[in-house]
Amino acid sequence: MKTKLTEKFELKHPIIQAPMAFAAGGKLASAVTAAGGLGLIGGGYGDEDWVHEQFDATGNQSVGCGFITWSIKQKPHLLDMVLDRNPAAVFLSFDDPEPLNETIKAAGVPFICQVQTLRDAKHAIDLGADVIVAQGSEAGGHGEKRATFTFVPEVADYIASSASDVVLCAAGGIADGRGLAASLALGADGVLVGSRFWATSEALVHPDMLNAAIKADGDDTIRSKVVDVARGYPWPDRYNARVLHNEFTDQWHDDLDGLKESPKAAQQWVEGWAAGDPNAANVFIGEATGLIHGVKPAADIINEIVEQAEQVLAKRYQ
Ligand SMILES: Cc1cc2nc3c(=O)[nH]c(=O)nc-3n(C[C@H](O)[C@H](O)[C@H](O)COP(=O)(O)O)c2cc1C
Repeated sequence: MKTKLTEKFELKHPIIQAPMAFAAGGKLASAVTAAGGLGLIGGGYGDEDWVHEQFDATGNQSVGCGFITWSIKQKPHLLDMVLDRNPAAVFLSFDDPEPLNETIKAAGVPFICQVQTLRDAKHAIDLGADVIVAQGSEAGGHGEKRATFTFVPEVADYIASSASDVVLCAAGGIADGRGLAASLALGADGVLVGSRFWATSEALVHPDMLNAAIKADGDDTIRSKVVDVARGYPWPDRYNARVLHNEFTDQWHDDLDGLKESPKAAQQWVEGWAAGDPNAANVFIGEATGLIHGVKPAADIINEIVEQAEQVLAKRYQ
């Protein structure tokens, strides 16, 4: 499959692996790149030693790195550190990328910006984004309200009319070849996949969390702010996170003020997270959890997605 995305990064397949904080290390990112996609290390909130270790673990594969924008703005030296590692791309999501875009562009490194609204897509394009990832609310982890199915074509129309050099990827709910085929039909040049790569043998995920996600279906997820209140992470108001619901979300989702006044409950969540306990803490995963039935190597996932997408496209559009 040749698209603007494969041409821009000289990829075999139009698939980017999402830079998932804590889960997407150098092993996963390099496996995805080796299999013909683009792997991204999940730099997340910005832990300098961890990011170095993950780049060291990539061997000679070319990978990029993603950061949570509002967090990395408080540690801009980490961006310089990553740029010194010669990344294939830098990915930013969640909050205004200005002025970090200037540092990325000045280094001549491709700038991928994940957005949740059309307004933010236009702004990111004005700031020189080479790739826009339009993220729908089906997505695992943090995000916002728009649905992938309408958001992607709206951004595609804007790019076609006003910024035709910009590459567009769809994100949120894409876990198999049907999702890739649908994304191309909606006007995207490729996909960014998180949840499906989270359940791979290369991801850094506790086995109990994996088992919980494999048993769950899409109905079992919820978008909530409880996880950030429990961890004391100062996320901007507009974002929340899609996770597997459990007793913790059942109790606190509608009582964030109560949770803020219950340090013991928050502490139990943090301890549960450290122990990989899906009952005490929450699994970060999207609605695509219902399409995930086992843990596989990243290369198998990529091959299956591409093969199925080709079959779907051949069958529907012959
Ligand atoms: C476990 C997990 C962690 C994530 N962490 C991050 C992150 O650190 N930074 C980020 O920009 N997006 C993060 N995301 C969101 C992804 O960038 C992406 O939008 C999402 O995974 C796409 O939807 P999908 O999960 O349905 O594939 C995370 C997603 C998951 C599932």
